[in-house]
Amino acid sequence: MSDLTPAEIVRELDKYIIGQDKAKRSVAIALRNRWRRRNVDADLREEISPKNIILIGPTGVGKTEIARRLARLTNSPFIKVEASKFTEVGYVGRDVESMVRDLLALSINMIKAREQESVQNKAREIAEEHILDILLPEPKDQPEAGADESSDAPSSSAANTREKLRNMLRGGKLDNRYVDMDAPEKSMPMVEIFSSAGMEEMGINFKDILGNMIPKGTGKKRKVKVAEALEILTQEEAQRLVDMDRVIAEAIEKTEQSGIIFLDEIDKITGKEGGSGPDISREGVQRDLLPIVEGSTVTTKYGPVKTDHILFIASGAFHVSKPSDLIPELQGRFPIRVALNSLGKSEFVRILIEPRNALLLQYIALLRTEGVNVAFDDAAIETIAQVAEEVNNHTENIGARRLHTLMEHLLEDILFDAPDMKEKNMTIDRAYVDAKFRDIKEDEDLSRYIL
Ligand SMILES: Nc1ncnc2c1ncn2[C@@H]1O[C@H](COP(=O)(O)OP(=O)(O)OP(=O)(O)O)[C@@H](O)[C@H]1O
Ligand SMILES: [Mg+2]
Repeated sequence: MSDLTPAEIVRELDKYIIGQDKAKRSVAIALRNRWRRRNVDADLREEISPKNIILIGPTGVGKTEIARRLARLTNSPFIKVEASKFTEVGYVGRDVESMVRDLLALSINMIKAREQESVQNKAREIAEEHILDILLPEPKDQPEAGADESSDAPSSSAANTREKLRNMLRGGKLDNRYVDMDAPEKSMPMVEIFSSAGMEEMGINFKDILGNMIPKGTGKKRKVKVAEALEILTQEEAQRLVDMDRVIAEAIEKTEQSGIIFLDEIDKITGKEGGSGPDISREGVQRDLLPIVEGSTVTTKYGPVKTDHILFIASGAFHVSKPSDLIPELQGRFPIRVALNSLGKSEFVRILIEPRNALLLQYIALLRTEGVNVAFDDAAIETIAQVAEEVNNHTENIGARRLHTLMEHLLEDILFDAPDMKEKNMTIDRAYVDAKFRDIKEDEDLSRYIL
């Protein structure tokens, strides 16, 4: 559980998101409020309603990014849900609960992965033993191996051979030998074929059913290279060593105490009119959301999950509607409102270079894998930011996402030619940028397509 102070949270977010100071402050407060509410005496805690947050702002200015980073830095289970999807045809009221189930599933995976990682060494050792058993079946008429070990004399040549073989195995010298093993056929990862609408409540899990239909250990031996066999056995052992009951208990706890649900497009469920067609009443969706946001218990196949302390971050452009168009009860659960600014040239310059994962750094790293060193001089960066602002103004304002399309176009030739380039060092300057964008920028139709 994270007990970062609001100031610490903002400092961390600053490493990835440029500007939007108000929004960062607000999410930090929302997160801290949850921590505070959890720490209030139980009887009063019930009286304090959750303090969730609505991020209001145009597309591509960092709403999702802020929420995602917040979750990551506190290591919280996080999912993003489009609120508008609940207005679609075929929607039945209880579907909204699926977001909590999905959050739990994600939390389980997080913890399972961590646990499997922590038993990796042990699993590897056991897998090694298996492989050695296969390579060197224990001779039946030999004395017990244990007796030799305790006497500490390597009198048994079998034990000796086994050690030698182990060293070779560890040194990777046996990697290309084949062993026969009862290995599962390499299969495609089972995709979620059926949307689990309503299925989970009935306790039906198609994946399980299908999984069981497909024969697993068929008893048929397959030839596998030692390296791969070691990998397969290690994973199998790791799964076996992890105590799933404990994982699930911890995952439920983590979901309840530190889960974050990002409700995107919340503005699309305001207003009573369902628009055209058989849309579900948007207000109906809001009413369905209410109990989850207020705090209720959702049944899952792993057990009940309480939503009281899950943090909800809603987000929307609110071009036509306003947060005050939400039903009053829901408004009350989202008392923190914050507007994000649209981004201009000066932010774009910083977004290109400052964040830990800045776009320019990404391209530089990508090209370095080809031995090509690109650099961007200041004037070039200015110009890219300038073009981004202009194209956003002339066509559609898609915020920082514009930088992605621009960069891809700007570097297209280099990205194509990189493996064959003779000159491995190059600096992108203003002239290069201008040349790439000049014609397109002028032509509005063209820039709609390309940039
Ligand atoms: N202020 C910012 N600082 C750094 N990067 C940003 C900023 N705003 C947006 N980006 C980048 O732009 C992309 C889109 O941002 P994000 O997904 O947060 O948009 P959004 O506000 O959620 O938009 P939408 O309403 O369309 O969902 C991301 O790659 C993100 O890293
Ligand atoms: Mg978003």
